[in-house]
Amino acid sequence: MIYADTHTHLYLEEFDADRRKVVENALAAGVTKLFLPNIDSVSVHPMLALCNEFPDNCFPMIGLHPTSVKENYMDELAAIECWLSDRKFSGIGECGIDLYWDKTFAIEQEFVFRHHIDLARAHNLPLIVHIRESFNEVIRILKDVNKSDLRGIFHCFSGSVEQARQAIGLGFSLGLGGVVTFKNNKMQETLKQIELKHLVLETDAPFLSPMPYRGKRNEPAYIPLIAQKVAEIKGISLREVSEATSENALKMFGN
Ligand code: NI
Repeated sequence: MIYADTHTHLYLEEFDADRRKVVENALAAGVTKLFLPNIDSVSVHPMLALCNEFPDNCFPMIGLHPTSVKENYMDELAAIECWLSDRKFSGIGECGIDLYWDKTFAIEQEFVFRHHIDLARAHNLPLIVHIRESFNEVIRILKDVNKSDLRGIFHCFSGSVEQARQAIGLGFSLGLGGVVTFKNNKMQETLKQIELKHLVLETDAPFLSPMPYRGKRNEPAYIPLIAQKVAEIKGISLREVSEATSENALKMFGN
């Protein structure tokens, strides 16, 4: 069985000691396509180095993470434009709104997110949206922009059936990560009711490890644990989950 990890930050320092081994672990587990959302103008360099080392397996995206929106956001946006004119990227992100960590730059975060929406449309690329404590704000902005040619992923989705339908109605898929394996998460009912064609898998490595690795460093090789849980909840085979979610991911990213 093969899988795609649609959201992994393998270029972060948490993997400096054994990055190559972590990619090999992923390949051994059947996780053959790894999509890397960017964070800022510094992280782009180690990200591209990894993608150059594994050109058949690691694919870069470009964007400014909402928690990295600071005073210098205009310079960061200029750097993104520069990169986009220079080489191919698989998506725009990680972008969106984060009202969990720090609200100091909330207005700037919205400006930057809207800019990323424009970039995704201009380059016909999927948009990877971060929605931490900001689901309603993100929906408001996407509705306000009101463009039917947008596609992308609500990263780390853990909401209700109704929220899932709102995201899908705007053209987005749901990114499912380790949270679906946690006890007492709210996703059971949502997953039962939402069709497989709207779902993709992601680790968000090194963060948010699925059970039984919760609290430890996450890595793409754990994607099958998330798939197994989705199969269990939906009462279908692991193969169905693997096939549908990897097909959804490849269609989304055009790989
Ligand atoms: Ni992320």
